[in-house]
Amino acid sequence: MSSKIILTTGSNRGIGFSIVQALSLRSPQNTYILACRSPTSGQEAVKELQNLGVKANLDVIELDIINDETIINAAKYVESKYGRLDVLVNNAGIAQRPKSDSLHDIRENFATTFNANVSSILATITTFLPLLRKSQSPRVINVSSGRASITRSATGKLPPTAVVSYGVSKSALNALTVELQRAEDVNEGGKVEYFTINPGHCKTAFNGFKGAKDPLDGAEVVVQLVVSERGMWKKGAFWEFEEGGMREVPW
Ligand SMILES: NC(=O)c1ccc[n+]([C@@H]2O[C@H](COP(=O)([O-])OP(=O)(O)OC[C@H]3O[C@@H](n4cnc5c(N)ncnc54)[C@H](OP(=O)(O)O)[C@@H]3O)[C@@H](O)[C@H]2O)c1
Repeated sequence: MSSKIILTTGSNRGIGFSIVQALSLRSPQNTYILACRSPTSGQEAVKELQNLGVKANLDVIELDIINDETIINAAKYVESKYGRLDVLVNNAGIAQRPKSDSLHDIRENFATTFNANVSSILATITTFLPLLRKSQSPRVINVSSGRASITRSATGKLPPTAVVSYGVSKSALNALTVELQRAEDVNEGGKVEYFTINPGHCKTAFNGFKGAKDPLDGAEVVVQLVVSERGMWKKGAFWEFEEGGMREVPW
């Protein structure tokens, strides 16, 4: 069994924590890097994971996705310690309403949300790409949302959103995933496989713990994309794990 180096942003709590928990219990031979903006909360998460029976190698690095210096330093650390990265899970993300209906607050809200949920994902991928290219089977998994599905919104399968900038930013993250995959396929022969995923509505602080799904169930789509053989799931596509199986989410 080959051992992978897997880095997950925002993994000190919520779905990111569950992704590390689910994957490390399933594949203990891998190394899991918890990339957190607070290293202290990352270390606390490591203790919690060990109390949950995780035996895999767990490492913590500081990485604030909106801070370029921490992204660059994190990549330097991974390079010097591991020499490559096999899987990058871009999980950290935000959802915020504008403070008011003023044009200033609307602009500020969209800028903040797009910076965290789109530009920062591209900055993180760009910085780690040289390390991903050193992997035999590099994968990038972007944690999007069902809210990103314009089809589900337009056909009324989703109720109108209360946080417009969030859904729009996640649709943009999906578009980014498609563009990165196309560029990869044309320029690098498709070495890096990109995926975007919907974890489903999970019980986390994100929604005041009102989600219907256990975040461990929300993590399953990522687990499937990581543990499966290369080429098993269509790359550059939008995936979710529902009703006991993987299925594509309509754009
Ligand atoms: N919960 C859901 O129902 C749901 C549904 C669809 C998609 N999602 C997506 O799933 C992902 C995780 O959400 P969640 O529900 O687990 O949320 P959560 O419980 O609020 O956790 C968010 C995580 O992201 C981290 N984070 C936020 N800003 C960051 C930054 N600038 N740099 C680094 N880390 C940062 C947080 O770190 P701190 O602890 O330091 O704040 C925390 O670890 C998000 O991308 C979200 O859009 C969630």
